[in-house]
Parts: sequence; structure tokens; C-alpha cells
Amino acid sequence: MTDIQKKIIKLKKEKNALVLAHYYQTIDIQEVADFVGDSFELAKIAQKTEKPIIVLCGVRFMAESAKILNPGKTVILPSSDAGCLMADMIIPADVVKLKKEHPNAAVMCYVNSTAETKTYCDICCTSSSAVKIAKSLEANEIIFIPDRNLGAYVAEQVPDKTFYFYRGFCPIHNVVNADEVETARRKYKGAPVVVHPECKKEVRDAADFIGSTSAIIKFVENSEKSEFIIGTEIGVVERINKLMTGKKAYLLSSHLSCINMKKTKISDVLNALENIEEVIELDSDTMDKARITLERMVSVN
Ligand code: 13P
Ligand code: SF4
Repeated sequence: MTDIQKKIIKLKKEKNALVLAHYYQTIDIQEVADFVGDSFELAKIAQKTEKPIIVLCGVRFMAESAKILNPGKTVILPSSDAGCLMADMIIPADVVKLKKEHPNAAVMCYVNSTAETKTYCDICCTSSSAVKIAKSLEANEIIFIPDRNLGAYVAEQVPDKTFYFYRGFCPIHNVVNADEVETARRKYKGAPVVVHPECKKEVRDAADFIGSTSAIIKFVENSEKSEFIIGTEIGVVERINKLMTGKKAYLLSSHLSCINMKKTKISDVLNALENIEEVIELDSDTMDKARITLERMVSVN
């Protein structure tokens, strides 16, 4: 443990704060967190915690979701400019347009979206819960926003429903291609290819397993194999290589580093706890409307 990590651990106890980290955070931040998880797990823990302060080491939509699900708490995003490129690709007017075009469809919103966008939707989902949520809906038509790749993946798993997509995507996962899968397979013979559903269809089709960040970690943990090609952000690869003895993970593509996830530095986490700065604030009307969609998401699982 470094001095700064020790200070964070001491301070979070003194202030009775809960530190949550997404798997894409750097290892030094994962090490000081009370819980590291995928976006669904972080949202559920934030909703239930009784601690007065939540430090969410991730990106803005994750901190907003924590605030919306547990509005009485002080929620801090240690690096205030850590957004999500996909979340910023859609605005409410785009949702309104899609709803006009498909009036009978339910609107399913990937949690990687702004709080305001969520207020125009019926239910949220994460990558780990999307298929289950699509199946649970009464509607036979679903508008899926904003990720066209996750949307297409869900539509493949739920063939009895009709899906309409928005053009959004994650610029980090979307650039990976099937040639890179082939090259990695040749280099790391016998290693399974494990990818996130934000990857394009050609990459998902070439993979051995598709899942959320937590599902990827569990797949590696439970596999008898010792080497893995990982098609999601580098934080997952670093976690496997640091914590899982006997397992070796390789990054599928050098593009797989999220600039926004990497904006949070360990010093920002200390600063957040010392000064209680970068507190998430949303207007109550937006929170009340967005909460309906997030609570529905949590209740399906
Ligand atoms: P998970 O829900 O799988 O953690 O994914 C979040 C994300 O932003 C992926 O790019
Ligand atoms: Fe958003 Fe992509 Fe970064 Fe995930 S990896 S937080 S979807 S920009």
C-alpha cells in the first residue's frame, strides 16, 4: 500500500464513506475500494448503502445513478469531467423522435446515458441485465437506446420481439474488429476470446463468450484455461493479471482503454474524501422521473 492509499483507507473510515470502483478503474483505485463491480452491481450497492457518503470511482452516469437511487446520500464523482462518450451521443429529442416513429414500442435505455435521457424512457438496463429485462417487458416492440451494438446483441437473444435502434456506440469497444480476434487467436493459441456486448457483431460472432465486465471476470475465474484474450477495457485485464494466480489475460486490441475511466487518479479519490468536492447535484424532477426507470431495472433482477 502506498501512503496515499493508506490515507484514503483511514479517511473513508473517519468519514463513514463508501468507496465504489468500476472494473475499468486503475488497480490502485480498485485496491482502496469497498467494492469493485460492473455498473449493475455498483448501482445496487449504492441503492442499499446506509453510509452517508458514496465516492463513485467511474464515470458520470454511474455516479448519477447512485444519486438517483439513493437521493439522501452525498455522492461524489472524484473527477468531475469523467463522462461517457456513448452517453453523450443521444439527447432527449432523439428519443422523442423514435417514440413518434414507433408509438407502440417500450423504450429501453442502457444505463450509459444521462439522467435527462433516462426521464424519456420506460426502463433502464445494464449489459448484465439487458436480455432479462427485454424478455420481461410486456411490449413486443422495443426501442433500444443508445448502444446499437448492445441493442443488436439483445435482439439476437430475444428473437420474438421487434427492436428499433439508435445509432450510438462506445467508441472504445466499437473500433475493435474481427481481424484483431484472428490475430490474437494465432498469437495466444487455445486462449478463449471473451468480449463485452458493446463490441461489434463481427467481434461478438468471433468470440467464445460475451458478457458484462463482471461476467467476464467470473468466466475467467471459473474456466479451467489459464490464458484469456479479453475484449473489453484494460482495467479488467489488469485486475485478472494482478489478482488471479495462475491466470494470464491479454488485451484483444490496443484501443481498449477508456480515456474517461482513466481520468480519475488516486489523488482525486483522496481529494474527494478530504474536501467532499465534486458532489453530484441533479434537479428533483429529473431525479424523480429517472428513478422510475432505474428502480424498474433493479427490481427485474
Ligand atoms: P458493465 O456494465 O459491463 O460494467 O459495462 C459498463 C461500461 O461502461 C462498458 O463500457
Ligand atoms: Fe462509456 Fe465506452 Fe468508456 Fe464504457 S468504455 S464508460 S461505454 S466510453
